[in-house]
Formats: sequence, structure tokens, C-alpha cells
Amino acid sequence: MKEQLAKIRAEALAAFDGVKDAAALDELRVKYLGKKGELTAVLKQMGRLTAEERPAMGALANEVRAAVESALDAAAGKLEAAALSARLKAERVDVTIPGKPVRQGRRHPMNTALEEMKEIFIGMGFTVLDGPEIELAELNFDRLNAGEGHPSRDWSDTFYFDTDERVMLRSQTSPMQVRAMDSMPLPIRMIAPGRVYRKDEVDATHSPMFHQVEGMVIDKGVTMADLKGTLATVAQRLYGPDTKTRFRPHHFPFTEPSCEMDVQCHKCGGKGCPTCKGEGWIELLGAGMIHPRVLEMAGIDPEEWSGWAFGFGLDRLAMLRYKIDDVRLIFENDVRFLEQF
Ligand code: DAH
Repeated sequence: MKEQLAKIRAEALAAFDGVKDAAALDELRVKYLGKKGELTAVLKQMGRLTAEERPAMGALANEVRAAVESALDAAAGKLEAAALSARLKAERVDVTIPGKPVRQGRRHPMNTALEEMKEIFIGMGFTVLDGPEIELAELNFDRLNAGEGHPSRDWSDTFYFDTDERVMLRSQTSPMQVRAMDSMPLPIRMIAPGRVYRKDEVDATHSPMFHQVEGMVIDKGVTMADLKGTLATVAQRLYGPDTKTRFRPHHFPFTEPSCEMDVQCHKCGGKGCPTCKGEGWIELLGAGMIHPRVLEMAGIDPEEWSGWAFGFGLDRLAMLRYKIDDVRLIFENDVRFLEQF
């Protein structure tokens, strides 16, 4: 029995020492320490011993069990440590490897022009409004004093949705004037940038979709002098403090009087060059004093309130500013083009 115990101890210690994984370790635990294990089998034979032999053999058996158990713990500890170090090795991150470069995009030139525009007007107390591109003809035309039969309503110019011409892609941002008058308390100072649509053939200066910025002021005692002063200031903010502007009479159905504003060509200083097509001046926007009928249709008393409005093409502004000679480049979004700004 003594020999049996010694053999178990020697075999078990050797086996635990060489164990490779947790499953094998568990098998060994069952084999030596389990209820049907080798040690238990030996202890069952204790009954055959004499009363004098038993205490010494019992002590020896306990000693062997303790030795086998501590060998088991040691082996389990070794396996755990090995697993941890394997994991640390596998999941190691080399913090000295240079990072992957992040490709940084940039603003579209149109957006830069728009942001600049917004900043100027917000600085003068204007609110920026957003409105629908699918618009009622009523707001795009009727409420802007362009009733039935007005040439701008023609099918050849306008994208209508239905045969009775009630719904359309807005052909100008001017219906935002009506939306502002209908929804905002007076006085109003607003700009409304956005896309507009016209049945234009595509060429270097025309696209069936382009961008406008509408602006409107309604208050008491507002005059043409406010219109001129404000818009001349905007031109100077855009093109420099020495920028000269001129106002020419024009016609729009929703303003009276109406005008167009030109800026002196910033390229040639007014002498005439390819940028201004030899004119010395570049047309920038349409504007005017809001027609009393437009105010009346919005329920605003033209005897008490007056206002002015303007609209300009943002694409044209961006083209002038960045010397872009073909409007199609603005919409194609070729990165080789966009990267230049
Ligand atoms: N909506 C006009 C256009 O598309 C531009 C315009 C002219 C807007 C005069 C205005 C304005 O607000 O007062 O040609």
C-alpha cells in the first residue's frame, strides 16, 4: 500500500507537470483525485490494515493527496499564465506604426460662397429661411403679381407637375417672400437660399437647376435708399471696400420700381475685359421695392409698411469669385475640379 501511494504520487506529479491544456488537466484530476480515482481506490483498502498500521498509512495517504492537489493547482496556474501570455502576444498593438492618412475633404466652392453670403446678412440682422423646391404656382406666380397669362408662366420655361399647372418646381426663390410674409411677424428681414429650376438648355452658363438667394426686408418707412445702401455694402463685403455698384431700371412683376444692380468689374476695374465681356460692369442681382399689391395679397397694409427685395444667382456669384468659366463644373463634382478650392 505504501508502494502504491508512492507510485501514485510520482506518476501524478509527472503527469501534471507535462500537461498541455485545460481538458487534459481535468482528465488527470478525475483520474487521480476523483471519486473513482486511483487515490480513492487505495484508501478503500484501509479497512484491511491493522489498528496499529492505520494511523501512519492514513497520514501518508493525506500527505499524498495534498501533494497531488498542489501539483494540480500549480499546473492549472501554469496553463492560465501561458494562455494569458499567448493572448497578449496575439493582441499586441504596435503603437509606433505610423497612422493611416485620413483624406480630408473640402467645401464645395458654391457652399463657400453661400456661407460667406449668409455671414454678411446674418451680421445685418437677417434670418435665414429654407423652403420647398416643389412649390405651388400660386406662390411662385399669382401671389407675386404674375397672374394668368404672364410670360414667365409659360410651359416652355417651367417644370409643372400636373396638367392644370398648380404644382411646379419653383422657378425662383421669390415664393419664399410670400411664405415669409404669411408666417413671420413684422418687421421681416430674411434671406432664403435654395435650388430653382427652369427649362434651360445646358451650356457653359445655363443649367436647368441652379441656385438663388432671395432677400426681403419689410418695415415701417423702408425706402429705395435702404435697398441701395444695403446691397452696395454687400457688394463691398464680397469684392472689397472700393467696389463700385450701379443700379439700372428694370422690370419685375413683384417690385415697383424694379432695378438690377451691377458691380464694376473687379478684374479690369471697369475698362472692359473678357470677364465682364467688355462691359466694365457685371450684372449681379435683381431687386426693387415690393409691389403694394404683393403686400396687400399677404394682408399687409402698404400704407403702413414698405419693403424691398432682391434675388441673385449664387452659381454666377461663385463663378465670378473663383474664376470658374463653365457652370457645369459646379454640378459635375469631379474631384479634380473640387480639389482646386
Ligand atoms: N426672382 C427674380 C429672378 O429669378 C429675381 C428677383 C428680382 C428677385 C427682383 C427679387 C426681386 O426679389 O425683387 O429673376
